[in-house]
Amino acid sequence: MSIPVTVGPPRVEHLHTRMAIGTSRPRLSWRTIAPPSWSQTSAELELWCDREIRRVRLDGDASVLVEWPFDALRSFQTVRARVRVHGAASKPSSDWSDWSTIQTGPLSADDWTAEAIGADEQVSTTPRPAVLLRRDFEINAKPEAAMLFASAHGLYELEINGVRVGDHELAPGWTSYEHRVRWDSHDVTALLRPGDNTIGAWVADGWYRGRLGWNGGHRDIYGTRTSLITLLDLRSPGGERSVITSDAAWRFSRAPITATGLLEGESYDTRLEQDGWSSPGFDDSGWSPVNILPFDRNTLEGPLAEPIRRIEERRPQTITESADGRLIVDFGQNLVGRVALKVRGRAGEVLRLRHAEVLEHGELATRPLRDATAEDSYVLRGLSGAEHWHPRFTIHGFRYAEISRSDGVDMIESITAEVLHTDMERIGWFECSDPLLERLHENIVWSMRGNFVGLPTDCPQRDERLGWTGDIQVFAPVATFLFDSAGLLTSWLRDVAAEQYDDGTVPWYVPEIPGGDWWTPARPGAGWGDAAVLVPWTLHRSFADRGVLSEQYATAKRWVDLIDSRTVGTGLWTSDFQLGDWLDPTAPPDRPAEGLTDPGLVATAYHSWSARRLAEIAQELGQQDDVARYTAMSARATAAFREEFVDEQKGLLNSDSQTSNALAIAFGLLDPQREELAGRNLVELVERAAGHLTTGFLGTPVLLEALSITHHDDAAFALLMQRRSPSWLHPISLGATTIWERWDSMLEDGSVNPGDMTSFNHYALGAVAEWMHARLAGLSADAPGYRKILVRPQPFPSLDFARARHRTPFGIAEAGWSRRTANSIEVTAEIPTGASARIVLPNGTEHHVGPGSHTFISADRLDEVGQRASAGNR
Ligand code: BGC
Repeated sequence: MSIPVTVGPPRVEHLHTRMAIGTSRPRLSWRTIAPPSWSQTSAELELWCDREIRRVRLDGDASVLVEWPFDALRSFQTVRARVRVHGAASKPSSDWSDWSTIQTGPLSADDWTAEAIGADEQVSTTPRPAVLLRRDFEINAKPEAAMLFASAHGLYELEINGVRVGDHELAPGWTSYEHRVRWDSHDVTALLRPGDNTIGAWVADGWYRGRLGWNGGHRDIYGTRTSLITLLDLRSPGGERSVITSDAAWRFSRAPITATGLLEGESYDTRLEQDGWSSPGFDDSGWSPVNILPFDRNTLEGPLAEPIRRIEERRPQTITESADGRLIVDFGQNLVGRVALKVRGRAGEVLRLRHAEVLEHGELATRPLRDATAEDSYVLRGLSGAEHWHPRFTIHGFRYAEISRSDGVDMIESITAEVLHTDMERIGWFECSDPLLERLHENIVWSMRGNFVGLPTDCPQRDERLGWTGDIQVFAPVATFLFDSAGLLTSWLRDVAAEQYDDGTVPWYVPEIPGGDWWTPARPGAGWGDAAVLVPWTLHRSFADRGVLSEQYATAKRWVDLIDSRTVGTGLWTSDFQLGDWLDPTAPPDRPAEGLTDPGLVATAYHSWSARRLAEIAQELGQQDDVARYTAMSARATAAFREEFVDEQKGLLNSDSQTSNALAIAFGLLDPQREELAGRNLVELVERAAGHLTTGFLGTPVLLEALSITHHDDAAFALLMQRRSPSWLHPISLGATTIWERWDSMLEDGSVNPGDMTSFNHYALGAVAEWMHARLAGLSADAPGYRKILVRPQPFPSLDFARARHRTPFGIAEAGWSRRTANSIEVTAEIPTGASARIVLPNGTEHHVGPGSHTFISADRLDEVGQRASAGNR
């Protein structure tokens, strides 16, 4: 019996949970499950809106991010949409999908008929206390629907009638606040009642006004006053609208949070709690009237991604007590979030928490945190029962916590680590028969989770935690495979665009905060600024999102044009300060930019690569003049690269390192003969390094791929399996549960690298997962959004199987292999409806297949014939 055609409800932009959006023409996507021979020839969309149903028919097979086909939505509107898909004449159609509810919030600045309100505090040093704001209000009848829209300069958490609103954490997250501040919405219908009601808010400094940055950092970066803006949209059963907003009627008081900062941690004193403060009937006569504060409503923007949420809770793996009574808690996983406690004891007793990623000599190693003290404290209330507490407005990167207690703390009933990050949907998985490789992959997943808290950061623990452009540039292919990170990255790219300098320079990190030295004002740096081209390109590749390409097009062009001008039109970029192959393990620990590879070579290679990608973007956007322009620019850079860096006599690169060869191969900068030579040379360089890599941030992501392109998969695999340092697996033997910043963040003897930049949670070197997905298991996109899939697994004798799975915009795709005999394997592939695949077997033969499950038997190696067939192994 053939399977019926079924289609899921339309999905709105890149969101997977229901929330109000800030766009009047949201793009819709749907996924179909159908028999293998079926393909969509048209789709019908129905919109239920203003008590009417409208229907449109769209010819063709489009199902991903389809432009809104109806009239633009208005602010504060709720509509429903559903879809039905049709195959060719003789083929079946689906039933209608379930309805999706689509809700808009304030779409323009004028819709924010609310005042921004704040407390009048005069605290000049940080960390500062949080404040409470409240207001009573009356409603005649229970509303049919009530949506609360809110945002802040600072961080906020809302309550209505004594109940916490929603489950968002660290709202509104960090964006380039002078340009964009995210608003969020909550359905609060169930929290309201006829008669008296109360709305209340906690407001804290967060990124807006707290201390950020290294060397002591900076405070009040975006402003000196925190403020809250809220709009409660009420609908009566008859459909009438009324609003209750933040305004002068609110009052403020100090909160029991006596000090809070993202880097410093949080202190909470229960003795300052005011019972019932967010409920009606509370006497707020001792509170002060709020101040009305300036807030540019034009900066308010609806959510592009899910909010930050508490995603997971972890129990301690071990708890040990030190001689002086401190508890050292090991959660068994380096993670990002906070510790939640349940305690009993006398009033006024104190608990203190410190955090660290690793232990040194049995104690928390906090030196790598630099000036991020990451200490929380709690003063007990002394209730008859247990007291629950966790900090609200701070997060830490830690695996270990140290808890100190004053004498009257009787019992700690539970200790939990709460993992916080943007609530992205997991869409990519990898498994294989080697537990170490699986652990490596798991470590990469955890480093992504810890560094996707609202924006992509370098690290989550020390006094840095910034949106470093180079880090996400190399990691984006993995990030977009593992999680649906499209919304988060689109949001961050808007900040990149907003903060790009007039001359086209892309800051080293975005949002940009004062950094001094080389960092601010920023100068153009290869591999970092290229994020402006390569991250949008990667997003389109993964999610078929042409929208992000058009949105980022001007920014990408301005970057590439700037570099062209830096090369004075020659294509050779040797003139500026570069980080080069940052953190190459042979560089002196305190001078990470001084690696083996000529920074000018790296810069010129990146210029050629970005110009080429930009030409592809131009092609996608139908900008033919630009296609020609950037293709020529890339060719110029390639020619300059050859001229300057290829030694004509030897045919080798004159800055001969693993990184230089890997970049030249992976970025297609050499002619075929030289490429082959570079491949062999690369193998030799690895051999000369006794089977080790000597690559940093920019060489590492392309090292294995370059070996595969030149048919040295065995050498690539051996590097991946290397257990001695520097290597990917070495940290695992030292207990790593995340990816480290340096190959030797922890030294052989278990001590922490003395360098001042030693993080244990940096995703950049985890870029290797791309090779694991695409080469080892064999799953990658061959066209935007995986409409075409490349299945090209590469088995190795020491493994029994490897498999990768990815939920593409069309549905689940899977590729993998398992061993049958010493030299034959079974290759399997699962292709979703709407996609097709090119399957390249290890024996070199190629097959073109459509949707469905496919199995092939193949020799596990190329034979002579196969070798020829698979030439050009890109
Ligand atoms: C960060 C990075 C970044 C680098 C560039 C470091 O401090 O943690 O990962 O890319 O600086 O200089």
